[in-house]
Amino acid sequence: MPQVLTHQQLLKIAGEFGTPLYVYHAERITEQYHRLQEAFKETSTTFFYACKALTNVSVLKHIKSIGCNADCSSLNEVQLALKAGFRPEQILYTSNNVAFSEIENAASFGVHINIDSLSNLRKFGQKYGHSYPVGVRLRPNIMAGGNLKISTGHNKSKFGIPVEDTEKVVQLMKEKNLHIRTLHIHTGSEIKDVEVFARGIEVLFELIPHFPELEVIDLGGGFKVPYVPGEEGTDITLLGKKVKEEFGTIEKRYNRKLQVWFEPGKFLVSEAGYFIVQVNVLKQSGDTCFAGVNSGLNHLIRPMFYGSYHHIENISNVAAEPQRYNITGNICETDTFAEDRMVAEIREDDYLVFYNAGAYGFEMASNYNSRFKPAEVLVKNNIPTLVRRRDTLEDLLATQVVMTD
Ligand code: LLP
Repeated sequence: MPQVLTHQQLLKIAGEFGTPLYVYHAERITEQYHRLQEAFKETSTTFFYACKALTNVSVLKHIKSIGCNADCSSLNEVQLALKAGFRPEQILYTSNNVAFSEIENAASFGVHINIDSLSNLRKFGQKYGHSYPVGVRLRPNIMAGGNLKISTGHNKSKFGIPVEDTEKVVQLMKEKNLHIRTLHIHTGSEIKDVEVFARGIEVLFELIPHFPELEVIDLGGGFKVPYVPGEEGTDITLLGKKVKEEFGTIEKRYNRKLQVWFEPGKFLVSEAGYFIVQVNVLKQSGDTCFAGVNSGLNHLIRPMFYGSYHHIENISNVAAEPQRYNITGNICETDTFAEDRMVAEIREDDYLVFYNAGAYGFEMASNYNSRFKPAEVLVKNNIPTLVRRRDTLEDLLATQVVMTD
């Protein structure tokens, strides 16, 4: 049974730390990591947590403590991972459309680097030649993922070097004496179908003979987790078997043994996170009852940006009859979290919890409308600890340079 925080625990934590509040459950993250290890135990697979999903340093420290590595998408994420105690060889930096200077800075830390443009690859070759093993992110032209916004491997996507340009990569490798150690793809987020990963592997397999120093196939992240009750996620046990099968074929065909890397974000942290808000105002309008909460798209933008479903429960009136609500935010935008959603009868001041809030929740939060970002709490060994305090007005002003009259 998955580890969960109960309504009672969440209510108590909300009472203690106030709302709006993100709450993360360390043991649930551990459990997900162990599921991955179990599913892939027969292949030489390494996991790099895609920390863009949630970069709170205390969470990163927990993830490091359970033996997982870190995948970063910016130099700042690299620095947060270092702060959390990851060693450079446990950190992967996969850049997209960055200035070459950012790649140089990442290299100065000695982390693994994946490059996703011919232009940066050329500059990398010019500067480092064979001295710094590097990964190449390819775009395999595969449509995958929960919706178009989070689909990154298709033939109109900005990500990666189009696979049809592989010859150019090979040319550059020869010209600049590049040490290409990794081929990388990441085709999207919320990929349920295991066959999509298999197709990605097959695209890369064809390219192996062109890269004599290849040691790693990095298949990115994108495992789907259930968001709607009863929904299924990616069958990672099946995927583990598939990966074993496909890599067995490579070994035979090319007489080469390669490592497999994955970069899961949502899989590790989505279900470990809860977002707790309180209801400010109930407003009846015709048939619709609006429950206006003390949050909005500034705190959890996924429903408005991707049309994502987050399950919502009223944890302070659990036994009441469910009623139909439009649950909306307090921002001067149409920030609807859920429409026509059945929730146990809501009263003003009730506490609502949003599930699956660990991934891309706080991380995509902003100070829009000059509102404060939520605080964050990490529950570990049953002890809730504040791991980010709430903003203050001073925080909002901290980076402003106020002109004198
Ligand atoms: N690796 C790379 C290179 C990525 O770009 C991403 C996510 C991942 C790994 C991790 O993917 P995951 O396992 O979390 O699906 N904000 C969106 C998701 C954007 C994902 C961006 N890249 C959302 O809230 O659905």
